[in-house]
Amino acid sequence: MLRKLQLLMLLLSFVSLEAQSDGMEKWLLPTSVPQPKDNKLTQERVELGRLLYFDTRLSRGNQLSCASCHHPERGWTDLIPTSKAVGFDGRVGPRNSPTILNAAYQKHQFWDGRVKSLEQQALGPITADVEMNMPLELLIPKLKKIKGYVKLFKKAYPDEGLTQKTVAKAIASFERTVVSTESPFDRYAKGDASAISQEAKEGFELFKGKAHCTECHDGFNFSDGSFQNIGLHDGELQGKELGRYNVKNRAAWYGVFKTPTLRDVTKSYPYFHDGSVKTLKEATVICSQGGRFEHNVRNKSDVMVDRHLNEAEVEKIVTFMKTLTGPDLQIKIPTKFPQ
Ligand code: HEC
Ligand code: HEC
Repeated sequence: MLRKLQLLMLLLSFVSLEAQSDGMEKWLLPTSVPQPKDNKLTQERVELGRLLYFDTRLSRGNQLSCASCHHPERGWTDLIPTSKAVGFDGRVGPRNSPTILNAAYQKHQFWDGRVKSLEQQALGPITADVEMNMPLELLIPKLKKIKGYVKLFKKAYPDEGLTQKTVAKAIASFERTVVSTESPFDRYAKGDASAISQEAKEGFELFKGKAHCTECHDGFNFSDGSFQNIGLHDGELQGKELGRYNVKNRAAWYGVFKTPTLRDVTKSYPYFHDGSVKTLKEATVICSQGGRFEHNVRNKSDVMVDRHLNEAEVEKIVTFMKTLTGPDLQIKIPTKFPQ
């Protein structure tokens, strides 16, 4: 009888262990990052990309680099609502600069998803007049005059040399190394029950359950890559507020923006495409009560409805989201550049 009971207990404990790790796989960070066939990661490419990423000579006035708006010490963003203070000659950019953390896993880049690959993305900010304002016809000859770069390009892309394409490829290679480090939540997902607090665990359950956040913030990157109108604005939308509708006038794309990752989200404030929200609490309230505007929002997502969370529940979700922050990635910020 005793033995039978012991056996039963043993079986039961297996069942409950199973239940604990069941369904957690989809939250685990992948062990490698997607890479295009014609731009596999090599040390030379990443190293060259790192130099280009931080080099202000890629901008017209030698004032700005990619890091000006996506800085490793500022959550890979610039911590201001929209990128106006730092754009070329202080010009006003219309959108909040997103983190580039885990951009490597995304199917679409930019808030409106107007380009797909990191390679396609990289040349955009160099030429944009509100960003680095550097025409490519000037950039390539300028870089070719820097002997150190010519050498590094030859090493990284022996058959291709220094071209627009390889500038983009090298920067993209560096960006593919800017991925999440292990957060407390990751340790929890792998089975360490003590890695996060009880409050955070309850927050995670609310996040998946009552609050329906995983309708959009799903999977290891806490984004399913979908585009959504979450009702940040009501009435007729203007200009950049049209979101993906600017890429193509499809009714379903009216006012939709890409669901951002929530990894390291404590570091990348202010929030939303217009940088209009300062705290995670405020963002959570908006996302759980059916958007900032309940009515008069054309094309609002069907799942953006009031989930009737109380204050304690909102706090728990915020506590949970804080466990998605890992230690800072160890990236060497270059102090010397090729001459
Ligand atoms: C003046 C500020 C500024 C500079 C300089 C800048 N960016 Fe950005 N970046 C932004 C803004 C703002 C957006 C969002 C624009 C949008 O979605 O319309 C963005 C978007 C991105 C994205 C898309 C991320 C996502 O999740 O969709 C990537 C990747 C990126 N930038 C990389 C770079 C690289 C590489 C450089 C240097 C070649 C660079 N940026 C230079 C402000 C800047
Ligand atoms: C219908 C899909 C959807 C649901 C459901 C949803 N979100 Fe979002 N979330 C988005 C989109 C899209 C954005 C960006 C919107 C924008 O800027 O226009 C966003 C932005 C955010 C941001 C700001 C991140 C940043 O970097 O700017 C936070 C935080 C956030 N959501 C948390 C939550 C939480 C918590 C829940 C559940 C209560 C939730 N979301 C539910 C789609 C969704």
